[in-house]
Amino acid sequence: MSHLVAPSLLAANFLNLQKEVEMVNNSLADWFHVDVMDGHFVPNISFGFSIIKQIKSIAQKPLDVHLMIENVDNYISEFKKAGADHLTVHYENCTHLHRTVQTIKEHQMKPGVVINPHTPVELLGDIVSDVDIVLLMSVNPGFGGQQFIENTYQRVQRLKNLLVQKNSNALIQVDGGVDTQNASRLVESGVDILVAGSTVFKAHNPSETIEKLKNA
Ligand code: DX5
Ligand code: ZN
Repeated sequence: MSHLVAPSLLAANFLNLQKEVEMVNNSLADWFHVDVMDGHFVPNISFGFSIIKQIKSIAQKPLDVHLMIENVDNYISEFKKAGADHLTVHYENCTHLHRTVQTIKEHQMKPGVVINPHTPVELLGDIVSDVDIVLLMSVNPGFGGQQFIENTYQRVQRLKNLLVQKNSNALIQVDGGVDTQNASRLVESGVDILVAGSTVFKAHNPSETIEKLKNA
């Protein structure tokens, strides 16, 4: 499988959201990456259900929803109703992560688990066989446009080893500071899904930039 590209709508122009969604629809991108922040788990607030529903009404590709919120369990069915196809939750704030992952599956969404840059990859050993996606944050979550953390490359390799060891088919996703310079090295290290916000939406030609990330 060649790698996937998921533009993060956090960096989109919300005054032209329909145009931005259509650009992604008509590009080589594979998924929409949708960042939900609550101002508690991360020091920023993004958007919620009504915006996601409107995006879903015109999106022609899966919605890959990355939750940076507290009390995830209270909102799983709402995210399903809003149109999420994948729901990715942080290891750091899910006390009963295995239960949360099962609930996501019961709601017919693909579960993902995400870890912050300081959380050891090896802590995921007993959950990687239950999820479809493992997301490694390559910045501290909360904001777009931050600098990529170089330590990510070796974390990708360690995660790849762990997935082999545990016989897991989970896809490896990286999020934060991904650009056309570091994309190839990430893919060579074993990344299956590149998330990119600013790189895509602040580019002079966003769909050409998506194509570059796709060909990395
Ligand atoms: C950060 C979000 C990212 C963000 C990435 O907390 O999870 O998805 O949109 O933005 P860039 O690609 O600009 O670093
Ligand atoms: Zn994200």
